[in-house]
Amino acid sequence: MHKVTDLKVHYYGTPVVLISSRNPDGTANIAPMSSAWWLGQACMLGLGNSSQTAANLLREGGCVLNLAPSTLVDAVDRLAMTTGTPDVPPGKAAQGYRHEPDKFGVAGLTAQPSDLVGAPRIAECPIQLECEVVAAHPFGMPEPRATAFHVLIRRAHVEESLIIPGTAYVDPIGWDPLIMKFCEFFGGGDNVHPSRLAEGWNMPHQLPQPA
Ligand SMILES: Cc1cc2nc3c(=O)[nH]c(=O)nc-3n(C[C@H](O)[C@H](O)[C@H](O)COP(=O)(O)O)c2cc1C
Repeated sequence: MHKVTDLKVHYYGTPVVLISSRNPDGTANIAPMSSAWWLGQACMLGLGNSSQTAANLLREGGCVLNLAPSTLVDAVDRLAMTTGTPDVPPGKAAQGYRHEPDKFGVAGLTAQPSDLVGAPRIAECPIQLECEVVAAHPFGMPEPRATAFHVLIRRAHVEESLIIPGTAYVDPIGWDPLIMKFCEFFGGGDNVHPSRLAEGWNMPHQLPQPA
């Protein structure tokens, strides 16, 4: 039996990507996000226009997509509700966001130089994709409040133990992505950590139960 309902949120479960980009002053920014989908060597990224990362991508034309394993959930959660934008936009301030100029420091992550783009890679992420921004499409109704960034993967760095030997494929058994599902965090199918994002969104949720 199905029930007709005005669903508030359509986040059915997608991997968490940590986008590293470069701020106007040359410092590094990190944004956790999960509205990303992949086709061949291209990726589409859905980013709110009020994020510092959207401005950085438009200005710099490059970024690194660092795929977060489920073991990095604590670092990802520490980045939640932070922005690299010095003047926190009112909508974000109302949700409880704060300005954080040192995203690597607050998350306890390590910057690693990239080969092709200005933004650093995140050493703790076993899959790091250096990308070029090739198009930016405003979207949203009634007025566009987000941008779909079309990026091309120019160089992939993958932790050796995750590559199927003798191939250029990731081992799907070894790779355990951190999944954001309805603002909560899952790894290996299990709810792995309480989520600040879910709190900020006032999501009705149950905390992970101790095993
Ligand atoms: C797990 C998680 C997933 C998120 N997914 C997205 C997303 O897909 N798109 C988006 O615009 N913001 C997303 N956010 C919110 C951004 O992280 C937020 O806008 C942040 O301010 C971006 O940082 P910046 O302003 O320094 O770029 C997500 C946050 C978390 C914690």
